[in-house]
Amino acid sequence: MNEQIASIQSSALELIAAANDARALDDARVAVLGKKGTLTLAGALIKDIPNEEKATFGQSLNAARTEINAALQQKENILQAIADANALSGIDLTLPPRSLPTGGLHPLTLIRDEAIQILRRMGFALADGPEIEDEYHCFDALNTPADHPARNEKDTFYFNSGKLLRTHTSSVQIRTMETSTPPIRIIAPGSAYRRDEIDATHLSVFNQLEGLFVDTDVTLPDLKGTLEYFFHEMFGTSTEVRFRPHFFPFTEPSFEIDVKLQIKGQAPRWIEVAGCGMVDPAVFKSINATRKDNALDPKKITGFAFGMGLDRLAMIRWGIKDIRLLIENDTRFLSQFAQ
Ligand code: PHE
Repeated sequence: MNEQIASIQSSALELIAAANDARALDDARVAVLGKKGTLTLAGALIKDIPNEEKATFGQSLNAARTEINAALQQKENILQAIADANALSGIDLTLPPRSLPTGGLHPLTLIRDEAIQILRRMGFALADGPEIEDEYHCFDALNTPADHPARNEKDTFYFNSGKLLRTHTSSVQIRTMETSTPPIRIIAPGSAYRRDEIDATHLSVFNQLEGLFVDTDVTLPDLKGTLEYFFHEMFGTSTEVRFRPHFFPFTEPSFEIDVKLQIKGQAPRWIEVAGCGMVDPAVFKSINATRKDNALDPKKITGFAFGMGLDRLAMIRWGIKDIRLLIENDTRFLSQFAQ
């Protein structure tokens, strides 16, 4: 009987040795240890042998099973190691990994948020208004009469309803003054629209940040100090800022603000970044006419307003030569700003 087990064991070990893949190894396992496997069937004979031989028979049966299981396990380890090595063949583990693209903030978002932060530190709160505006809030209330060139159909996007895409964020000045009582200190970033020919410095959609400060004793030095501080925070304290007299219907006096742009290897030049001025009393009057409480009495109340071009600020900050890059969504450009 023991010889029979010995021969089952040796042919089992041969089968295992010959198995070249996981499937063949499993077939070998079933052929020997399965329900009808050679060792299982031999084990069933134990009931037919004389009692005094049962113990030795049982021992050799167990010893064979242990050996065979060990051989199966060992062969399985070897086959797994070969499979692992094959899976990795042709892969250069020393190569750097391919990086996963992650999102980043758009340069306009970055510059807008930075501008908001600086102005909030000075006490300006965020305000908002619609981009589809009526002529009253965009022009009339801003002391801009019907024959003003800014209202020309060639310069502005009108809807059939008579509404228009706001040509500046200054309409938010009006909407804020209609509903708040001085002191008023707000900023309103947002899109503005003009029928401009698109080129390296003009788009038909651009981004402004409007500011308005209305109180009993707001003066021109407040305006100048606030905006100088702003541009020094934005571009560094050594940046030169200049106020150039200008005309806007809704401010008097009015200025355009230029920042001196210094790019290595180029002659320094002045770049226009904002319009500003002291709120024209005519604007307060038109607000009072609608709210009827004379809360913005031009005899008691003064104010300053400004509107800056966020696209321009971004172009200056990063030396961007073509404004179109800001709307083309080219990731080769945008990824440079991802942090
Ligand atoms: N709204 C003006 C423009 O778009 C800028 C401006 C805002 C000027 C506020 C004065 C005061 O050009």
